[in-house]
Amino acid sequence: MDLSYLLTHFGEDREHGFDAVVPPIVQSGNFTYPTVAAMRAVVQQEMDRPLYTRGFNPTVGMVRKKLAALEHAEDALLFSSGSAAIAAGVMSFVQAGDHIVCVQKPYSWTKKLLVELLARFGVEHTFVDGTDAENYRRAIRPNTRLFILESPNSLTFELQDIAAVAAIAKAHGILTLCDNSFSSPLFQNPIDLGVDLVAHSATKYLNGHSDVVAGVLAGSAAHMRQVMSREFMTLGPAPSPHDAWLLMRGLRTLELRVNRSADNAAQVARFLEAHPKVKRVHWPGLPSHPQHALALRQMKRVAGLMSIELDAPDEAAVERFCDGLQRFLIAVSWGGYESLQWPVCALKGPSGYYTELPFTMVRLYVGIEDPALLIADLEQGLARM
Ligand SMILES: Cc1ncc(COP(=O)(O)O)c(C=O)c1O
Repeated sequence: MDLSYLLTHFGEDREHGFDAVVPPIVQSGNFTYPTVAAMRAVVQQEMDRPLYTRGFNPTVGMVRKKLAALEHAEDALLFSSGSAAIAAGVMSFVQAGDHIVCVQKPYSWTKKLLVELLARFGVEHTFVDGTDAENYRRAIRPNTRLFILESPNSLTFELQDIAAVAAIAKAHGILTLCDNSFSSPLFQNPIDLGVDLVAHSATKYLNGHSDVVAGVLAGSAAHMRQVMSREFMTLGPAPSPHDAWLLMRGLRTLELRVNRSADNAAQVARFLEAHPKVKRVHWPGLPSHPQHALALRQMKRVAGLMSIELDAPDEAAVERFCDGLQRFLIAVSWGGYESLQWPVCALKGPSGYYTELPFTMVRLYVGIEDPALLIADLEQGLARM
């Protein structure tokens, strides 16, 4: 199936949608049947037929089909956030007494899931430096059930050799889950590299307009059935049909957006790397990145998120740079039209999760604006610093 067809027409079920070019939002919480027998038939297929919107909704179903196809998976579930997708994907495959090996410095709420939530229910974890796949093997215990990957992670942009980690897992009968939010399914497909479960914050590139919070979990039909019948239905993380529809609207331009963001990021990264006020640029697309060769091997392209370390003597200087930027909004998240900045010194809070990062670090999301304007803005911000 060609990508343009997948992103626009595939799964959109025009015959049942009034032949509308844009599929309808089925904003209904429940569904009705002409007979008891018809209802019974739907109850037996609650995952794929409309009974109650906490389980299945036709608009959500259209997006699920596209997301599964994008990640080369048999099926996908859509969640009301990326964190919900990761939590359900992890919780479904472990129980008290089990052990998880997770890449160090994962997304902050993935870390909290392991450290604060699952620890209360008797699930152990070990964080490993994932730049060496062998660290996953070394951390295996008899009770290890799951490896969590996030390649690259979204702060320091360290990669894991996904195929190597997946092969170690397979040899030990361990399941793998990879957070693929950074790359989007267009630039990296972990399932093709041997991973079992792929998660996304669909809030980011997949939706792409900074107006929806949503998440995806993709994998085999059997794994998705298990998550659906347990965590998905009991915890209730279904997205609203309207958010699913917005996500479908966003997907139509996914290819244009991620490629433009990656093009812009390449220009911005090269500019920043050459600037005397920038000590380091963490972006796997640069030849200077220690894992550039691996990035070229397992990713089709490198997306538009990066971190820089400023040559700043104190937080006041970092603030002069950040406050002076006109085109990079100070905000968390990423993946929309607009470029963003996320200064580490603003988020070193009581959680203590960012204490290992230098105060001079600023994460930049390079959006899809005119790259010359973005570079000019960074140049004046650095001069002001
Ligand atoms: C890499 C990564 N994974 C997961 C998440 C969680 O997604 P959400 O915010 O949609 O719950 C985020 C959100 O920032 C993220 O950056």
